Amino acid sequence: MDDWPGYDLNLFTYPQHYYGDLEYVLIPHGIIVDRIERLAKDIMKDLGYCDIMVLCVLKGGYKFCADLVEHLKNISQNSDRFVSMKVDFIRLKSYRNVLIVEDVVGTGRTMKVLLSSIKKYKPNMIKVASLLVKRTPRSDGFRPDYTGFEIPDLFVVGYALDYNEYFRDLNHICVINEHGKEKYRV
Ligand code: IMP
Ligand code: MG
Repeated sequence: MDDWPGYDLNLFTYPQHYYGDLEYVLIPHGIIVDRIERLAKDIMKDLGYCDIMVLCVLKGGYKFCADLVEHLKNISQNSDRFVSMKVDFIRLKSYRNVLIVEDVVGTGRTMKVLLSSIKKYKPNMIKVASLLVKRTPRSDGFRPDYTGFEIPDLFVVGYALDYNEYFRDLNHICVINEHGKEKYRV
């Protein structure tokens, strides 16, 4: 909800060097990981347990990608069909079944550009998983195939999402405050 006040920062732990720089916790780390477990289940079911090339969009996508691959691997190991998974970080070769793993879709422009460049390689299938999708009037209408959380139109950090390269080492997804923006402004 757009008026969701978030969780009080004092309910959780977070790195001391970010004390005073955050407004509130939007999505605690445990909920992020639990939600990714379910996304992995949905993805495996849709893809029919075929071999997958997981394409991580650096840098913000690396935490989501690592946790998603971990869950996909666990599901595969506990099923009768073993799924082979390769992971790459946006370096293009001849790919077949591609799962693009992105941190956040805002306007959707970044994903449009990426998809058009990957389509040149004529993969069998391309699916997009984004941990976050923003509700914003600036959206071009792009919707990922898999969405972790739909969030209000806020600038968020943590769980590998950054503000000028800071806050990637924060576990929870949080909303940065004015002090934090000023402190890490470039
Ligand atoms: P879009 O092109 O507007 O969809 O923006 C997507 C890209 O911008 C993402 O891949 C992120 O790298 C970055 N981005 C957008 N919103 C945020 C945010 O709230 N925090 C951190 N990075 C963001
Ligand atoms: Mg990104």
